[in-house]
Amino acid sequence: MEIDPAKLTIADRYKLLIGCIVPRPIAFVSSVSPDGRPNLAPFSFFNGIGSDPMSLLFCPVNKPDGSEKDSLRNAKPASEGGVGEFVVNVATEDYSRRMAAAAEPLEYGASEFELAGLHEAPSLCVRPPRLAESPVAFECRTIQVVRLNPGKAGGGNIVIGEVVHVFVRDDLINERLHTDPEKLRAIGRMGGTGYTRTHDRFEMPQGKAALDA
Ligand SMILES: Cc1cc2nc3c(=O)[nH]c(=O)nc-3n(C[C@H](O)[C@H](O)[C@H](O)COP(=O)(O)O)c2cc1C
Repeated sequence: MEIDPAKLTIADRYKLLIGCIVPRPIAFVSSVSPDGRPNLAPFSFFNGIGSDPMSLLFCPVNKPDGSEKDSLRNAKPASEGGVGEFVVNVATEDYSRRMAAAAEPLEYGASEFELAGLHEAPSLCVRPPRLAESPVAFECRTIQVVRLNPGKAGGGNIVIGEVVHVFVRDDLINERLHTDPEKLRAIGRMGGTGYTRTHDRFEMPQGKAALDA
């Protein structure tokens, strides 16, 4: 099938993105409003960017009325009315249902921590709390927000953050900073309501050596 995105509805374009870009890691983003109210929401349009500065991104799309999701309102730089900080907690099997519950659209300022039965732990370098249940948390300062279609439904936004502190639970990292995926139990998002676990893995070198392995 050859598909012209220009002829698709916004909903169908979204269906293709989430059905074909799989599996996607899940950033469980904690943030606070400028007056200090905590917020928590999952984002699977998420990835690392680079190591100098250590940086990552997540992508909150505009709501159907074109307005910004709460995580973007909070994480955008102070010069744009936000706090300029956020924490990316890694989503794992251990609290997957509570992670999905936190996607409930609540009114601005209401806490998904409370709704989902999840707990705050103090961050070391930023105001938003990290998620106590998460074995890994990246504390971030927002470098920039790139808006592709501001004010329009479905318009994408890229929140770029510099990682200023990392928390990793002691039992899943060694002194060489290798993490144990079996203990991390990260989950990924597929299309629709689908998810994947990370137990079925394989290894290979990169480049030409991959053909010989
Ligand atoms: C696993 C999962 C991944 C999600 N990924 C995204 C995403 O990448 N971008 C997005 O805008 N919404 C995503 N959502 C929906 C948001 O979590 C949802 O709109 C949430 O209410 C946003 O919360 P906020 O307004 O507090 O920021 C995802 C939901 C789930 C359950």
